[in-house]
Amino acid sequence: MKTRTGLIHHGLQKITAPGLGVNTPVHRASTIVSPDFETYLNRFDNDRVYNDVVYGAVGTRNAFALAEAVAALEGGYKTVVTSSGLSACTVALAALLKQGDHVLVTDTVYGPTRLFCDEVLSRFGVEVEYFEPTIGGAIGERIKSDTAVVFLEAPGSLTFEMHDLPAISAAAKAAGVITVLDNTWATPLYFKPLENQIDVSVQAGTKYVAGHSDLVIGLITVADEKLHRAIANHARYLGDVAGPDDCYLALRGLRTMSLRLEQQYQSALQVVEWLFQRAEVKAVLYPPHTSDPGHALWKRDFSGGSSLFGLVLHCSDIDSIGRFVDALEYFQIGSSWGGFESLVAANIPPLGRRLIKWESVPCLLRFHIGLEDPQDLIDDIAGALKQLPAD
Ligand SMILES: Cc1ncc(COP(=O)(O)O)c(C=O)c1O
Repeated sequence: MKTRTGLIHHGLQKITAPGLGVNTPVHRASTIVSPDFETYLNRFDNDRVYNDVVYGAVGTRNAFALAEAVAALEGGYKTVVTSSGLSACTVALAALLKQGDHVLVTDTVYGPTRLFCDEVLSRFGVEVEYFEPTIGGAIGERIKSDTAVVFLEAPGSLTFEMHDLPAISAAAKAAGVITVLDNTWATPLYFKPLENQIDVSVQAGTKYVAGHSDLVIGLITVADEKLHRAIANHARYLGDVAGPDDCYLALRGLRTMSLRLEQQYQSALQVVEWLFQRAEVKAVLYPPHTSDPGHALWKRDFSGGSSLFGLVLHCSDIDSIGRFVDALEYFQIGSSWGGFESLVAANIPPLGRRLIKWESVPCLLRFHIGLEDPQDLIDDIAGALKQLPAD
């Protein structure tokens, strides 16, 4: 089955009786009732907790349907659905690490994942070390006898550095170290982590999967049963669960993800190409563009791109940049991304990064291209650029 067909057919409601709809209805439940005493006593026995609906806090039918569809898309063994993209990162990390372990984390990791490493993992006796996104196979030299996990995100948050994922995962595999990739940007449509020797694929389903800016949800997909048990159990111990309405909406979003993402990718390419012609633009951070330092890696490993990129202007006056942002009509100002609408966000240094320094830029703008006509978006940016002072 081709990917696009799978997006439509995986996780559909099983038709076991007449009168059922296509989609699994929203199954709002805390209590799951047992037909008799014995079934109740045995409700957590064997594999039921992993495969059946036994209690609302360990997943409803909607979570199982979403998990089935995402696991198939990723080519994975199973998917664990969590309450947010951030918790997908933190649950995966905490499930795979213990006191005394060493974890290697890319320096351009999503900021709140970094906070979790620094504030929580460190407190629980895990040694956290950051590495440069350009490290490639030399990650092998940082791996120690107690290294348990390498945590990756490609391209990096805000600054969009590509990582040599095959070289890093090969070095980790050779040393018996588990690799986890936050693959939210590319999604499994444009890069399949598990087919590239990465053990755990994490997505903030909040973004392109859900696609409509109206929920938060996390997705962790693994290659084998052992990893699934470790991560599913950890989510259970923490009581980390996604509600049925959010699972329903995320699965509905998944059905149209390939169409939305392809359109948004093409529109982003058009907007980025235009931005490069503008004298006001110092840099656009977008690996699918040929001028990006990560372009060769992107081209080798990814089959497409999402619609999120960084923009650096020559202007170093923060008030003028503010006027430029405020003058945009179609780009709302807001965090998150992956929805149908265009967004702009501004990130003021310092980022708390240790290795990648960010100098001479008062603020880095992050653009998300939505499903509007790209020409309208270009015209909008062109109009707003007039707010910047002439040289
Ligand atoms: C790369 C990346 N990973 C994870 C997350 C967290 O997702 P959520 O907002 O669902 O917690 C984000 C959110 O912006 C993100 O950009």
